[in-house]
Amino acid sequence: MEASGDTDEPPLPLTLTGFQVSEEFGFLLPNPLTELPAPYGPWMDIAHELPQLITSHQLRSRVHQMPQLSTQHLRGREELHLAHLVLSFITMGYVWQEGEEGTVQVLPRNLAVPYWEVSQALGLPPILSHADFVLANWRRKDPHGNLDTIITLPGGESLRGFILVTLLVEKAAVPGIKAIILALGAILRCDEEALHRALEELAGAIGAMSAALRRMHDYVDPEVFYSVIRIFLSGWKDNPAMPHGLIYEGVSPEPLAYSGGSAAQSTVLHAFDELLGICHRQDCAAFLHRMRHYMPPAHRAFVERIRGAVSLKQHVLCSGDARLRAAFNRCVSALAAFRSCHIAIVTKYIATAAAKAKARRAQPGAGAGPSAGKPPSALEAKGTGGSHIFSFLKSIRDSTREGMISA
Ligand code: HEM
Repeated sequence: MEASGDTDEPPLPLTLTGFQVSEEFGFLLPNPLTELPAPYGPWMDIAHELPQLITSHQLRSRVHQMPQLSTQHLRGREELHLAHLVLSFITMGYVWQEGEEGTVQVLPRNLAVPYWEVSQALGLPPILSHADFVLANWRRKDPHGNLDTIITLPGGESLRGFILVTLLVEKAAVPGIKAIILALGAILRCDEEALHRALEELAGAIGAMSAALRRMHDYVDPEVFYSVIRIFLSGWKDNPAMPHGLIYEGVSPEPLAYSGGSAAQSTVLHAFDELLGICHRQDCAAFLHRMRHYMPPAHRAFVERIRGAVSLKQHVLCSGDARLRAAFNRCVSALAAFRSCHIAIVTKYIATAAAKAKARRAQPGAGAGPSAGKPPSALEAKGTGGSHIFSFLKSIRDSTREGMISA
């Protein structure tokens, strides 16, 4: 993979395809496979029944009966991504089937060993990440282009909405990802006109991402998100519900700790931050940098390459060109607005939903298990990645604003 921040890097222009980024779909996997070869029927059968198996508390026993399959029949990136998606969803269901009070310490060998092998082959961690949950989890439902997920968990239409709205944000980012390449190429050629056009394109794409993000309100019920969906995205690092991590039987005798799935693992915002030279507070930057290890390695390399490229901000500053400066600032301001919009969503889907869930829990006769609507109380003040969410998100939004160039 590419080295980071290396001053001897070959000169740009960059290409998207060299980093497994698609002209049409950006970081999304283009046209993901929906079925694995026949020998993997036992995985697919379980994966297609996951919501029912989890809510009826039968998933763990089904997994125990599952044969240990060799991964040697998996061919190419597409099959590996589908295998990772399937095994990630089965693993999250297995771990969280009984809620945060009924977790397991061991992932059984017949699941852990192939999951580990597929993860190694892709350079992904053996846990559900954004790369599985969103990037590799979509298909066209009909010839009109309507979308659906491939694998799902409890949460019904709200879960579908959560995944597909996040996918629409990724899709809206595509012109912005292409604009990165155009902007860096334009700087090298000292083509200020092309640079200006690229920055306008980027600002427009970030605006479209905010519009897509707001569709969360139409498709995702906050109570379902908080009480049913969220726990299945939780990891086993810095999580009081699984303080010791998880033993992957047959892989390592020691427990391993991984953060849960989060769009903080989306390459889009990392790439934009690097291009615009946004500097985050040290603790926030450390968390975000850790999240890069949950990205496909080629996407992580793309971010590192932008980081190592010529500085856009420095170029705009040195140019003294007011038009370029205004276009640059429009990008930064659109990015801060995206983050404000995201904070409003997190407030609704986590903080407000948590307060309501707490009030409900105080009432007598509250049920047990996530399927019965019991929220993951240990996670109330924290993000799925274990961060203190609001100070973290606001700091990131504020440091984005500070990235503006003053006149
Ligand atoms: C119901 C919807 C959502 C909720 C409740 C939510 C929640 C969170 C939380 C709690 C964090 C803190 C870090 C962590 O725990 O991992 C976070 C970070 C983040 N989320 Fe979301 N999120 C939602 C949707 C989205 C969507 C659709 C995107 C866009 C792709 C997104 C992008 C991000 C990014 C980029 C970060 C890292 C912080 C930053 O760079 O500003 N989120 N989110």
